[in-house]
Amino acid sequence: MEVASQVIVRPARNVRGSVQLPGDKSVSHRYAMLAGIAEGPSRLENYSTGADCASTLGCMRALGVNWQRKDGEANVVEVQGSGMSLSAPATALDCGNSGSTMRMLSGIVAAQPFTSEMIGDESLSRRPMERVIKPLSAMGAQISSQHGKPPLRITGTHLKAIDYEMPVASAQVKSCLLFAGLFAEGESRIQEPLRTRDHGEVALRTFGAKLERRSVGQGSEVRIRGGQRLRGVEARVPGDLSSAAFFLCAAALFPGSQLVIPHLLMNPTRARLLDILMQMGLKISVTQLDEVHGEMVGSLQVEGAKLKGGTIAGADSAALIDEIPVLAAIAPYTEQGIEVRDAKELRVKESDRIAAVAKNLGLMGAEVEERADGLRIPGAQHLHGAELDSYGDHRIAMAFAIAALRAKGETLIKGSESAAISYPAFFSILEEMTER
Ligand code: S3P
Repeated sequence: MEVASQVIVRPARNVRGSVQLPGDKSVSHRYAMLAGIAEGPSRLENYSTGADCASTLGCMRALGVNWQRKDGEANVVEVQGSGMSLSAPATALDCGNSGSTMRMLSGIVAAQPFTSEMIGDESLSRRPMERVIKPLSAMGAQISSQHGKPPLRITGTHLKAIDYEMPVASAQVKSCLLFAGLFAEGESRIQEPLRTRDHGEVALRTFGAKLERRSVGQGSEVRIRGGQRLRGVEARVPGDLSSAAFFLCAAALFPGSQLVIPHLLMNPTRARLLDILMQMGLKISVTQLDEVHGEMVGSLQVEGAKLKGGTIAGADSAALIDEIPVLAAIAPYTEQGIEVRDAKELRVKESDRIAAVAKNLGLMGAEVEERADGLRIPGAQHLHGAELDSYGDHRIAMAFAIAALRAKGETLIKGSESAAISYPAFFSILEEMTER
């Protein structure tokens, strides 16, 4: 078990330098799962260094998939695909802190002729799983849970296709059902109410599956036929945009900042953060835009500016769901503040992120209004350092390290080790990038 730790973050004058991000977490999970059920070898470069993506690899190994990290290149993972038939795990599948692992992998184990138990840590054990249990049960799997929460016990079967309109906009659920659809008898149709990240669709195509997608209102519909087989790939995972968000928001605190971020994921379903930051005043230019295995990748040059602030609501709240904590954490320093609406999903993430942001901003002396589905944070405020808790949530730990850069005095962040869930090197890189 990880030992609890804390960091002290001192105020800064500027952020400057070039930062190469580890592989995107969402893409890494999907590549590892699909490489496991593909035929033939896959080589995944720049695989996420986060503990969550290691949880996915651990589960794939427990399901009989052979993989190894390349000697001397820890971020290269070589996977020998098992094909569509996995082996019954001898122990529970430990998803750690990773909701993505539990939700997406449940779509694969639901199609295997054995029973899997999926467990998670304390935080994951509080998170809602009904959203995958209901549709997977409709496809024929037998699933028991603790009142809709982990642990899950999934007895797989030969699944039937599903025609499903997701009540919640969730890319994890969409990917879960597309993965299940790959094994099912017939064609599945999954409809999402708002457009969410499409890495599942893109990765399925990369591994050779055929699927059809079309826009429906503000959302989309994806159809996939069962019985398709996947083949292994050699792919490089683009840099994690949600991890880059912390540095982008740091640059947004200091007009003199200059950052270069090469080989960053720029998938349009993820890049809304860049539009929003530019609308608020940050200067971002993109060079070397390219498409790699269906994912857009580019290099960013960023110049700090005074941020105006604004409102995040509706489809933007779904598109920015992982970046809202850090946007909210810097909101008091913007000119007009930031209002977040339609983001009640934040309450069921690794922590209740609305409550955690409100509490920590309050401790730093900020005025903040907490609402059921968001926050309103006035701008032009002066914050002071404080003793804060990460609530065991990686994004809260990192968001407040950024807020601390503009506060008066030092900020102590308890539970800072949680950053390793998505970005183990975060605090040391931040230290390298800040000028004091
Ligand atoms: C993810 C989808 C989002 C996001 C999570 C990763 C994914 O969750 O918050 O960090 O990779 O599909 P939801 O599907 O619950 O919205």
